[in-house]
Amino acid sequence: MPLYSTIFSCQWLPKNSMASSSLNYSLLAVHLVLFSTLIKHSFGTFYEEMAEGIALKSMDSTIHLHFYFHDIVSGKHPTAVKIAQPQDTPPSGFGTAFMMDDPLTEGPEPTSKLVGKAQGIYAIASQSLVELLMVVNYEFVEGKYNGSSISILGRNPVFDDTREMPIVGGSGLFRLARGYALAHTVWFDPNTGDATVEYNVYVMLSS
Ligand SMILES: *[C@@H]1O[C@H](CO)[C@@H](O)[C@H](O)[C@H]1NC(C)=O
Repeated sequence: MPLYSTIFSCQWLPKNSMASSSLNYSLLAVHLVLFSTLIKHSFGTFYEEMAEGIALKSMDSTIHLHFYFHDIVSGKHPTAVKIAQPQDTPPSGFGTAFMMDDPLTEGPEPTSKLVGKAQGIYAIASQSLVELLMVVNYEFVEGKYNGSSISILGRNPVFDDTREMPIVGGSGLFRLARGYALAHTVWFDPNTGDATVEYNVYVMLSS
């Protein structure tokens, strides 16, 4: 197997110098490009060797979460309450802030299985449109991620079809998480302000 012997020869170089690491990496990159069609039958083995040879310690994995968020501002048991409002509020509501403890469910119906809670603040941060600043922890209470949470800090222009918000961290199994959330409103009552929002969340983790 001439290909294997070439790749293994990289290990003869001293391991603890930057130059040799980058040389190893270049050599392997060249081999990857030149021989990618030849090594298909043994890709798993080659990949392991590469990880050891250049101390490539972390490999990212992505977790996709899908759930529905219910924001209830009306009625006797609101899940979001107004906590601040300026004296002269412009039509957009600029300056108004809410604290939420919104249920997250598996399906679009509020009665479907509870999978988590969205706890945090949203505030109208635009003078002209309803664009929110979201500072929210999404804590999960179901399955593998029970007790783990992700933190979102982002901009939410609520009348856009899809809003993207960054995940800036997490806890538990989501420790050191990065990623993004895509929010799409599936139901909105203009009279009460109540809404159901579908979330597709992509969390990247280093293992
Ligand atoms: C989630 O974790 C809590 C605390 O450990 C536990 O009481 C609860 O039963 C768990 N829920 C599920 C659905 O596993």
